[in-house]
Amino acid sequence: MAEFKVVAVIGAGQMGSGIAQLAAVAGSDVWLLDKDAGALHGAKGSISNSVQRFVNKGQLSKEVGIKALERLKYTSNLEDLRYADIVIEAIVESEDVKKKLFAELDKIVKGSAILASNTSSISITRLATATKRPQQVIGMHFMNPPPIMKLVEIIRGADTSDETFTATKTLAERFGKTVVCSRDYAGFIVNRILMPMINEAFHALYTGVATKEDIDAGMKLGTNQPMGPLELADFIGLDVCLSILKVLHSGLGDVKYAPCPLLVQYVDAGRLGRKRGIGVYSYVKSPKQSSRL
Ligand SMILES: NC(=O)c1ccc[n+]([C@@H]2O[C@H](COP(=O)([O-])OP(=O)(O)OC[C@H]3O[C@@H](n4cnc5c(N)ncnc54)[C@H](O)[C@@H]3O)[C@@H](O)[C@H]2O)c1
Repeated sequence: MAEFKVVAVIGAGQMGSGIAQLAAVAGSDVWLLDKDAGALHGAKGSISNSVQRFVNKGQLSKEVGIKALERLKYTSNLEDLRYADIVIEAIVESEDVKKKLFAELDKIVKGSAILASNTSSISITRLATATKRPQQVIGMHFMNPPPIMKLVEIIRGADTSDETFTATKTLAERFGKTVVCSRDYAGFIVNRILMPMINEAFHALYTGVATKEDIDAGMKLGTNQPMGPLELADFIGLDVCLSILKVLHSGLGDVKYAPCPLLVQYVDAGRLGRKRGIGVYSYVKSPKQSSRL
């Protein structure tokens, strides 16, 4: 059974930074890679703040927190990942970009390493074709934010081996997560069900059924969800939601998944949600928190 002494995470955005934090807290040496030095700098700050919050709440000892931060290394050089036992990719939701990365990784990392993708919707089977190790390619879909959310959805590609599945499941459980397993169809379990709901909320707004506030309040209070669907879309990132809907639409071939024109327009306008300060809602950032206007 793989020990995962060295974990590499690629993409230091909202997902990758959280996954790197989980791995470091769980005791692995961690490389966090991003092509953008600014993203690495931001990730270092947000991981440090997040670990501090866990310590302040008594959910992590100060010693474990300090050691976790010491185990994290930041880089933009793929060669630094060559000793990784597993690489978890969390870059932009684009099949072409992910495939290119997987092909490069396949040449650099050791033969026994597992290549995992945190993709929200893209076929693991197709990502695996970019490598010569399809049996060691798997989907490891964390929820946002990874340090808090309890679920990891594991997706087996057509050639993923039992050994890779068992090792990846064990790692997710070492991170304190509950695992569900999905077959490799667009959107897997969670986004197959969640994204049509978010898309429908955009249609309700687009066609003037109700205000954004009433759509969110209706779903929050009426169906006992912690966040309304439009607020959740802002949290996930409207660009990420749009990419997933496009994958559902093309992968499942049903017009019901076609992205709402309003969602497309917001993304075209750069209104990507919380991470850009504006999406369906506007956000003001203060050093302590970003609040909804
Ligand atoms: N946002 C969510 O709620 C959520 C939830 C689950 C899964 N995901 C998936 O996780 C992945 C990342 O999403 P995110 O929200 O963290 O995105 P993000 O935009 O916050 O971060 C992506 C990061 O990847 C970096 N990057 C892009 N291409 C790269 C490359 N070729 N090499 C190295 N770094 C590169 C970018 O610089 C950026 O820092 C996507 O596949 C997304 O579908 C997102």
